[in-house]
Amino acid sequence: MFNIASIVAVALAAATVTTEAKPVGGCHFDNLLVFGDSYSDVGNVYKLSKGAWPLKAYDHGRFTNGPVWTEHVARNKHLKLKNYAYGGATTDSKFVQGYSGAASDLLVPGFIQQIDQLYSSKPIPKKDLASSLFVVDFQGNDYFFDPTASPVAVVQNIENGIKKLVKLGAQNILVVENFDYGIIPYFNGNATIAGAFTQAAMAQLVAYKDLEQRLAKEYGRPSDSKHPFRGVCHNNSKDKKPKVTIGYYKLNNLLNHIRQPKVSKHLGITDIVLGCVSNDYKTVCKDAGKHLFWDAFHPTAKVHKVLGDAITELI
Ligand SMILES: *[C@@H]1O[C@H](CO)[C@@H](O)[C@H](O)[C@H]1NC(C)=O
Ligand SMILES: *[C@@H]1O[C@H](CO)[C@@H](O)[C@H](O)[C@H]1NC(C)=O
Repeated sequence: MFNIASIVAVALAAATVTTEAKPVGGCHFDNLLVFGDSYSDVGNVYKLSKGAWPLKAYDHGRFTNGPVWTEHVARNKHLKLKNYAYGGATTDSKFVQGYSGAASDLLVPGFIQQIDQLYSSKPIPKKDLASSLFVVDFQGNDYFFDPTASPVAVVQNIENGIKKLVKLGAQNILVVENFDYGIIPYFNGNATIAGAFTQAAMAQLVAYKDLEQRLAKEYGRPSDSKHPFRGVCHNNSKDKKPKVTIGYYKLNNLLNHIRQPKVSKHLGITDIVLGCVSNDYKTVCKDAGKHLFWDAFHPTAKVHKVLGDAITELI
């Protein structure tokens, strides 16, 4: 993974896609609709588990010790946040079923099911779609619940979901691509399994590159790839054929950047290997801010803030 890290040196690079996006003065987003897993869930699993999961040491139903990245984006851009994300979610429950809870026994909806069951039942009104930004952020649960899951198939599920959203009227979609799953504390001390997850993650990044090209053919490319959503204001009520802008965020680049000693030191992070919460959930450190990871799987609130501020730049 370190070879890959040196290749992808730029931390905040974002490749993007759009159709004839004409920046229109005065346009802005009103809503942030989030489809995802524990990296963006702000309480769905908490509700589902009747407050039992995540544990009390966590921040009010978040899978970390403070606001998650989508909350920072919503606050920075004054957006109304709507959370469809569930901790433990896969890209499609029919492909691999995802679970959450202390005993991993709560069935949670995957990306496709979050759209079909949650979003479709009460979609955003047509007139508001142009001012809504849809987020797609799935980080590896497919492999966690089925280590034989194919990265190409996982990204195909993401594509299926994106097309579903477009059919339902979504015009602005932000896809958070995956990071190197091999670096999570859960795999610390087992190079074999860590290596297997790194391999899956790298294959998934390649599959995302292909996805970007396929969707560019379908929906076009953005005028400003660094800020795909900045100044973009699609308007269904005026356009005969709705325009679609899809932006991609390279989470792996950001985490590789943060893991560089100079950068982590600057952030006050001294431990990029172990979580603040031990892998058996029995101990919680007193200095979460010194950690890259909050627990075996999830980044700390500090890292979520860095991520949220970085993604705000795309909008
Ligand atoms: C590493 O993880 C794999 C898969 O879970 C397991 O089969 C293997 O025994 C583990 N190795 C060590 C050294 O713990
Ligand atoms: C879309 O166009 C209609 C009609 O011109 C206008 O009333 C509405 O505010 C526009 N919506 C956005 C998000 O710009």
